[in-house]
Amino acid sequence: MNIAIIGCGYVGSAVARHWKLEKSYIITVTTTSQERVAELEKIANQVVVIKGDDELALRSLLQNQDAVVVSVAPKGDRQVDANVYEQTYLRTAQTLVAALQHAPSVKQVIYTGSYSVYGDSKSVWLDEQSPVAPANSNGQVLCDTEQVLLQAANPHLKVCILRLGGIYGEARELVKIFSRWAGTTRPGKGEYFTHWIHLEDIVSAIDFALLNQLQGIYNLVNDVPMMARDLVELVCEHHNLPKVIWDESADEVKPYNSRVSNHKIKTAGYKFIHPQIIA
Ligand SMILES: NC(=O)c1ccc[n+]([C@@H]2O[C@H](COP(=O)([O-])OP(=O)(O)OC[C@H]3O[C@@H](n4cnc5c(N)ncnc54)[C@H](OP(=O)(O)O)[C@@H]3O)[C@@H](O)[C@H]2O)c1
Repeated sequence: MNIAIIGCGYVGSAVARHWKLEKSYIITVTTTSQERVAELEKIANQVVVIKGDDELALRSLLQNQDAVVVSVAPKGDRQVDANVYEQTYLRTAQTLVAALQHAPSVKQVIYTGSYSVYGDSKSVWLDEQSPVAPANSNGQVLCDTEQVLLQAANPHLKVCILRLGGIYGEARELVKIFSRWAGTTRPGKGEYFTHWIHLEDIVSAIDFALLNQLQGIYNLVNDVPMMARDLVELVCEHHNLPKVIWDESADEVKPYNSRVSNHKIKTAGYKFIHPQIIA
């Protein structure tokens, strides 16, 4: 199996490592920076330096590949504006779709998206059939990216969209994510739902999607949505950190307040390694 991974950061690297070392697939990964080549050569058979909007480079990357994983995200500070978001996600998807016209060997595209496309559904349970309602322009870019990729599907090309919860795992533990909240005062009550997915499940589910040639949209979140308030309390207690104080008089932003079902991917046969959060 020859597989290209466009965007080889936290998720892409873990997938590359798994497939190269444990499955002996031939893995080609991309990076936008020459400085990362040596590091990535340890986990991939080939590393190419390209940006997602370079069609000729993507055409060359796709030659003789059986599948493509797209796992890009804006660099550095994640609170980037919509232009950077658009450049990273949408332009990469559009350029990939154009390049795929010249790559008949590719049978599947797997894209790591986000459950943030559901927006604030006021805690109502949602599934993949529910309408998207992005809460901001970045969320809209993610919706548009999904559409561009899904429209490229045809009888010879399967497109699988995985809508991931917040990512945690080795070197990105919840305590690292939330320790800066410890002992601070946060606005609101923290009574909004959050979803999480462990890195090991992301790797395992991407592998499952490949082996089972999944196509269409699948939520990839663990079994138990958690209120932000409960989650932070759990993490702070577990790691002996000072509690977060909630200021109920202040407004809070709840861009992803939804309860998202993972029933579809489980029905397809996927078994979660971490169905509940590990603090
Ligand atoms: N973080 C979360 O909690 C979360 C939640 C839901 C969904 N997701 C999604 O999960 C996916 C994986 O996230 P991650 O944490 O693995 O991201 P990450 O570690 O930031 O890696 C993203 C990779 O994208 C590459 N990239 C950035 N701009 C690019 C461009 N214009 N063209 C080509 N490559 C580009 C970067 O390459 P170089 O740095 O090597 O140049 C980087 O390695 C993303 O699609 C993200 O949106 C994340």
